[in-house]
Amino acid sequence: MKQIIDVIAKLFSVKRKRVSTSDPTFILEKLYSSIDGFYISKAERERLKINDTSFIYGEISSESFTEALAIAQPQAGNIIYDLGSGTGKAVIYAALIYDWKKCVGIEFLPGLCQVSQALLNNFLCMKEIHQHFSHKHFPIKFIQGDFLNVDFSDADIIYLNATTLNPVLWDKLTKKLNELKQGARVILSTKKLEESYFEKIHQALYPMSWGDCTVFIYQKK
Ligand SMILES: C[S@@+](CC[C@H](N)C(=O)[O-])C[C@H]1O[C@@H](n2cnc3c(N)ncnc32)[C@H](O)[C@@H]1O
Repeated sequence: MKQIIDVIAKLFSVKRKRVSTSDPTFILEKLYSSIDGFYISKAERERLKINDTSFIYGEISSESFTEALAIAQPQAGNIIYDLGSGTGKAVIYAALIYDWKKCVGIEFLPGLCQVSQALLNNFLCMKEIHQHFSHKHFPIKFIQGDFLNVDFSDADIIYLNATTLNPVLWDKLTKKLNELKQGARVILSTKKLEESYFEKIHQALYPMSWGDCTVFIYQKK
């Protein structure tokens, strides 16, 4: 009899583990349920005849991003940039789980940036946002353009999915990153920063949409 009760109790507890509608991961999955960033990116690259590895699409998982952000220790009122923000998933997710002064995504491909802006509008109208986050501020902005031409020197945290960036672009970008303010953190996939400018505070393998990938977290000296 006790065994039967235990089994029923276990089943009941499994049932009760349903994801809450206030869970940021649930909200993100709902918002992006019909969005395929890979498809949009491929169509945009074909349309614009872009054949540069820098524009290959890939996404960080919300679990990996949560972990990496926690290590970067955002403080209330910080500013974050996602350099190459794709459909804006990481930017919207970061805005949900921390309180920022500014949360900015910069994306070169117009089709991807337009989708991120449209999704931001949908996000702000979601019933889950009105229900559970009505007092939260979402200072999110998406900029369409080349991140080399945008001033991000006020960043406290930079997220950069840099795995496929070509060496010429990477060289120019590191020069801008070297100008970041002291204490700024950079969450970076695959590529490394110059240790004369940055202290490496973390390195680990994280699952990405294309498989496991080394993520480095640096702090500006
Ligand atoms: C690997 S995806 C990362 C998407 C998102 N940040 C994530 O991690 O989930 C890289 C993105 O950077 C964009 N990109 C590449 N070079 C860029 C540049 N110079 N300026 C702005 N965006 C760029 C690509 O179009 C692509 O959408």
